[in-house]
Amino acid sequence: MQSMDQAAGLKIMMRQAMSANMAGTENQGVTSTGVFNSRSRTRVIAVAGGKGGVGKTCVSVNLGMTLSMAGHDVMLLDADLGLANIDVLLGLQPVYNVSHLLEGKCQLEDLILKAPHGLKIVPATSGTRRMAQLSSVEHASLIRAFDEYPQPPDFMIIDTAAGISDSVTQFAAAADEVIVVVCDEPASLTDAYALIKVLSRECDVQRFQVVANMVRSAEEGRGLFEKLSRVTQRFLDATLVYMGMVPHDEHLRQAIRRQKAVVDASPGARASLAFKNLAKAADKWETSVSRQGRIGFFAQNTLSDMETPA
Ligand SMILES: Nc1ncnc2c1ncn2[C@@H]1O[C@H](COP(=O)(O)OP(=O)(O)OP(=O)(O)O)[C@@H](O)[C@H]1O
Ligand SMILES: [Mg+2]
Repeated sequence: MQSMDQAAGLKIMMRQAMSANMAGTENQGVTSTGVFNSRSRTRVIAVAGGKGGVGKTCVSVNLGMTLSMAGHDVMLLDADLGLANIDVLLGLQPVYNVSHLLEGKCQLEDLILKAPHGLKIVPATSGTRRMAQLSSVEHASLIRAFDEYPQPPDFMIIDTAAGISDSVTQFAAAADEVIVVVCDEPASLTDAYALIKVLSRECDVQRFQVVANMVRSAEEGRGLFEKLSRVTQRFLDATLVYMGMVPHDEHLRQAIRRQKAVVDASPGARASLAFKNLAKAADKWETSVSRQGRIGFFAQNTLSDMETPA
């Protein structure tokens, strides 16, 4: 594929600046805490894990769909930009994907796919090495492209790639909450630790929600969290919160073969009940993390836009 130059990203940024100017101040309202955009705030959640294959995509899809089923407006970004697979997992056929958005060939509205229960999917490409190697300017312009979307959702979930590349750290730093998915494998714990280390030391992310996936019991899930938490507390300045566990469940694999989310295909399965608990936890999260000075999704309706009235 021919190399995309940074001009494409800059073009998107310019369009955003123009539409922000045109929007003026008519959408503003006043609360006891300050002046803000009248639309409610989007809660942005990045799902990461360090190691490949621990269940990041399964958690992203099923958490997103459970929140949709509960009546929330949810958008799910496939941020595994070079090896995207959410569309395949859900049996969707994208016409456009984020590479077209970056090249200025379409608008965000053109590429959003509707999955069951109204879940909005933003698909990416698979097998395109170039997309897995975007510059930080290109990542930033991709994040800013969401500013133009007229209906910011209640939740934005970002399914990140394996590893600790700039792509993963930039998307995680743009989120309000970072979910770290771990499973019972030594490499999963060491990779999760490496991810938390990089994000806390280099990207100013201090709080992590841990999900123990593919566990055989509640005790095993809690035990995994405690192992990770002990080592993190000793060496890093980061807070780990146990979000919950998802059991190893054959229903989940069967749902994947049918190109469905398990919460849709088998709502009574143990994994589906676990995803409901995760969604309940996410629904309670306060949006207290300040995004001041950070590049964030839907920046025009974030807390960082608030100003305290005189
Ligand atoms: N709770 C579970 N029970 C049973 N199998 C599971 C569970 N979670 C994940 N899996 C299996 O693990 C596989 C990998 O999951 P998934 O694609 O979500 O991992 P990932 O972390 O996103 O991988 P990658 O790093 O490649 O993006 C799934 O295809 C599924 O077969
Ligand atoms: Mg994945």
